[in-house]
Amino acid sequence: MYTSQTASSKSASPYAIENRLQVQHLLALSQNKQNEGSDVVSGLKQTPKTLPPKYFYDDRGSQLFEQICELPEYYLTRTETAILQTCAAEIVQITGASELVELGSGSATKTRILLDAYNNLDLPLRYLPIDVSAGILETSARQLLLDYPSLSIHGLVSTYELALEQLPPTKLNTRTICFIGSTLGNLTPKECDRFFAHIANALQPGEYFLLGIDLQKPKHLLEAAYNDSSGVTAQFNLNMLDHLNWRFEGNFDPNQFEHLAFYNQSQSQIEIYLRSKKAQTVELRALDLIVEFETGETIMTEISRKFDLNAMQRELGARGLAPVQAWTDANRWFGLLLCQMEFPRRNASPAPNSIAAAD
Ligand code: TRP
Repeated sequence: MYTSQTASSKSASPYAIENRLQVQHLLALSQNKQNEGSDVVSGLKQTPKTLPPKYFYDDRGSQLFEQICELPEYYLTRTETAILQTCAAEIVQITGASELVELGSGSATKTRILLDAYNNLDLPLRYLPIDVSAGILETSARQLLLDYPSLSIHGLVSTYELALEQLPPTKLNTRTICFIGSTLGNLTPKECDRFFAHIANALQPGEYFLLGIDLQKPKHLLEAAYNDSSGVTAQFNLNMLDHLNWRFEGNFDPNQFEHLAFYNQSQSQIEIYLRSKKAQTVELRALDLIVEFETGETIMTEISRKFDLNAMQRELGARGLAPVQAWTDANRWFGLLLCQMEFPRRNASPAPNSIAAAD
């Protein structure tokens, strides 16, 4: 292919990478800096203590997460990838020429399966990745542009909510917002509600939402996925303390904490904690914060909710995101849902004084 040559020269060719890449920053950097760490302070002052999951992902954390995705016990990535491989052609058939908006694009490995399917049908390719990390977004965008000569990318460095409020106008016939990797499970039910409202607002009638969710399954399978035998998950969880140390001049000793993850059956969620092995005091100098820990005291670092496919379809349907098709693996361990934004019903907005009918 001619791409790499064209791309590296700053030619005026419409295929040059620079002409196919636009990166828009929605996060004001200075504003961001000012509040940096306020979420750590409030989380550690709370009882019980919590820390925001975003602090998992410094360079080492991102590497460790990639290792998690390869673990024999961590079935999620492998299963979702296999499902995507079997249904991508069908998705593309259903949506037709559609641009792909991806929330939390990361390294975009799974996205390629969808891009390949659009490419195979000779449908135009436009991709709008959204990620808070400008570095990851730009590196993976450039790689995709090298590999897909007819692809154009408009990246948004942003949180999901901000990006959903400010999506650029659609250029292809329709748009598909995809949120895969079961990241939805890391939101609390309340956050999930807000998130769906944002999705519904961002879509025009007839446009699509593709959602990947991890499904409920026996406890021992779930707990193994978050307590792997080689200890990578424990390292990933504990790495958050090293990350806080360098970012906020802290003195956490990761050896004095341990990884804890279990399935809370009544809430259908994996809960992940760091547990203090002894009574200890930790200081984060840059945040002017001193924190006391009792022996056995925990910090919650993540929840990972596990869903029921039918219940999720009903929940989305109630928000105007009508289920079009659902795919799972043979074990029904993971689900992929394609929904379409409904057209407003003719009597959807009742006169101010009338009582809305139930249906
Ligand atoms: N989104 C992933 C999940 O819910 C994140 C994750 C995987 C994770 N393994 C972890 C988070 C271990 C904390 C600790 O499955």
